[in-house]
Amino acid sequence: MRLVHISDLHYKQGSKNRVLELLERVKKAKPDHLVITGDLTGQGRESQFKAVKEILKDTGFYDYDRLTVIPGNHDLFGFIYRHYSDDDENPLSQLGDGVPLRDVIANLISFLAHFTDFQEEDYEQTITTFCKHYSEILGGITEFPFTKKLGNNIALIGLDTNHFVPQFSFTLKDCVKAVRLRSFDPLGMNVTGATGWTDVPKFKRLCQDHSLTFQRKIVLLHHHLKSRTVVAQELEDELRHPDIWAGEMRLDNRVALSNAIKSCGAKLVLHGHLHWNDDYQLSDGTPVLCGGGTEYDKSYNMIDIRPRSIKYEIKSLR
Ligand SMILES: [Fe+2]
Ligand SMILES: [Fe+2]
Repeated sequence: MRLVHISDLHYKQGSKNRVLELLERVKKAKPDHLVITGDLTGQGRESQFKAVKEILKDTGFYDYDRLTVIPGNHDLFGFIYRHYSDDDENPLSQLGDGVPLRDVIANLISFLAHFTDFQEEDYEQTITTFCKHYSEILGGITEFPFTKKLGNNIALIGLDTNHFVPQFSFTLKDCVKAVRLRSFDPLGMNVTGATGWTDVPKFKRLCQDHSLTFQRKIVLLHHHLKSRTVVAQELEDELRHPDIWAGEMRLDNRVALSNAIKSCGAKLVLHGHLHWNDDYQLSDGTPVLCGGGTEYDKSYNMIDIRPRSIKYEIKSLR
């Protein structure tokens, strides 16, 4: 069984050829199954979900037995782009270098004003929208995690590691929720969903399902399992403030999830979000692969699952 893993397509207007080219190249590796670990779209727009689906159909991947997808933060936090054009993938870039201070202040106020429109119920709706668009691939599920069997003894477990943290809200209910999630974000810094969290007890319950006992489990998530310190070190030469970036891109309950993955005996973990292809291990040696995006690291992960081994390789498309 050959899996190909890619991530973070970030589809937006004008990306069709880029995504099409990647999928055509991936096809040449003759995968039995393709896994895309989130950020299929740049801004979570309905038109973008439809366009990605069309490309997956055109390239022959759009089939339950040939493809698995999970959502990334760009797919579910699309609400922040509602008031912006397709070209503004990140409205916060309008606050960046070279923008006059007066415009930065005006843009910031406008951005925050739009953002407070958004409520938790809207966020739940975005998950429903994602599941609806890819229902044939997700087997009609309406919530995560889910499992999909491949062949006789491989089970994919797809998680949703995105979550909505109450923003700009200091009501007792929202403060309690923030404490419960151990995610403190009173200034709404998680506006793009860069910081993730997932329901670990739910994942553990699913792993206890007897039908998974003799399956080789492969866990799919969007956010990564590296520590902030490691990510900051890796980006030391790339960014001016790698510590800030690494802090924002974290999975809040990374340690709890990593422990649960180890306990369930998973054979492999696949994720995205970091935008470069990479492989590392959990403390017990469980391999973890990060999928790059076509916009950034032009590579894919090729994984060959044999009866007694799992071999993987990062294939460059350059
Ligand atoms: Fe991404
Ligand atoms: Fe992401």
